[in-house]
Amino acid sequence: MEIRPTTDEDLDVFVDTVHTAFGHFPESPVAGGGRWWSALEMDRGLLALSEDGRPVGTAAAYSFELTLPGRALAPVSGVSAVGVLPSHRRRGVLGELMRRQLADVRSRGEFLSVLLASEAPIYGRFGYGPATFTARLTVPRHRAALAVPRAPGAPATAGAPGTGTAGGTVEVLRRADCGEILEEVYDRYRRAQPGALSRPHRWWALGAGQSPVSSAPRYVAVHRDADGAADGYASYSIGEHTTLTVDETIATDDAVFTALAGFVLGHDLVSKVVFRHVPPEHPLRWQLADIRAGEVGGHGDWLWVRLLDVPRALTARGWFADGELVLDVDDPFLGERGRYLLTVREGRAECVPTDRQPDLALDVRDLGSLYLGGIAPSTLVRAGHIRACRPDAAALADALFRTEDVPHCLHWF
Ligand SMILES: CC(C)(COP(=O)(O)OP(=O)(O)OC[C@H]1O[C@@H](n2cnc3c(N)ncnc32)[C@H](O)[C@@H]1OP(=O)(O)O)[C@@H](O)C(=O)NCCC(=O)NCCS
Repeated sequence: MEIRPTTDEDLDVFVDTVHTAFGHFPESPVAGGGRWWSALEMDRGLLALSEDGRPVGTAAAYSFELTLPGRALAPVSGVSAVGVLPSHRRRGVLGELMRRQLADVRSRGEFLSVLLASEAPIYGRFGYGPATFTARLTVPRHRAALAVPRAPGAPATAGAPGTGTAGGTVEVLRRADCGEILEEVYDRYRRAQPGALSRPHRWWALGAGQSPVSSAPRYVAVHRDADGAADGYASYSIGEHTTLTVDETIATDDAVFTALAGFVLGHDLVSKVVFRHVPPEHPLRWQLADIRAGEVGGHGDWLWVRLLDVPRALTARGWFADGELVLDVDDPFLGERGRYLLTVREGRAECVPTDRQPDLALDVRDLGSLYLGGIAPSTLVRAGHIRACRPDAAALADALFRTEDVPHCLHWF
């Protein structure tokens, strides 16, 4: 078997091979209507060829920016379009593709790789761990009233259906008439949201991806501040059984999110509202006057993270508590192992090799899960995945890894 990089000339054969692996037809419209593969970066693709030179496997990578805790931005490879023909599975083709791809990612100077996993058991062995989580919130229209905010001094109008925030407005546009509003608002949002990925301009220009990046018909409620500047949107459609489905609610602050949620919840001729991609523990559920009205479903992992350079990754993110921790990190897929002293002072970390006794011993995939702050180290200690080498190590690690914002990602790739 041979693994070779792709060029633009390989696009058709690449797309055909990955579709065959997934059992789909490239000519059928994909969910959301976008030709997702139009944004593939063919200089980052890989094709696996059988002995007789036929393509049997694919792997692609996009160049994204990931927002880290503390709102630092890091270049990452977004792994996608991974597939092996049904006739050539379980012979190590994927393993070879992953090995080659991780080497390519490193050679570009990227120290993090991310992906969305079609099946959870596939990627742990390659060093990826689930790092952000998302859910779907369904609210029946007749129980959709929002509570009046009761914090002393809170503006009583926030979230009332059809209104904006103080002085703000909501306007309904068609997706096709939104121009660059969504791209601009999304970009501002993702820079402030740990776990979020950039959406390169070419994705919007090509309509590559799911709604509202794709050009599938949608209504978009655009929120504007008192000066008329767009600062949030909710892209939605009304489908079967008068269900209003919100693809994504993007807001640059909580008040704007509430205004947009209030707007769709107040939509006439709708039986229920489904919010896709709501971050875990989002305040929206608490804002419903009837807390049982919101049904949380589809809870699951979204972004998986893999560290390729532990000291660089740990010093790139922001930290919120001072402390010291010795991590013994095993990377069985790449055959690497390192022990690092992580020292945090005033929000910044130093990470250097050490021979001190470790506090935690862990697999690089579990460090990927901890990295954005989406799961506490103590949970993975209790699960038996991370070893706490002294009694207070889990609590110490919890305090150190805790982040100000829950990481969340809703970009599909
Ligand atoms: C997932 C897929 C790419 C795996 O390709 P493959 O060439 O068969 O994988 P490999 O032979 O290199 O497997 C490497 C290891 O992963 C395991 N593995 C591979 N796919 C797995 C799966 N779906 N579930 C559980 N384990 C899996 C293998 O058993 C093997 O384990 P081992 O090293 O202990 O023997 C292939 O099954 C496929 O194309 N599936 C459909 C498309 C898809 O889901 N792609 C992933 C997109 S995110």
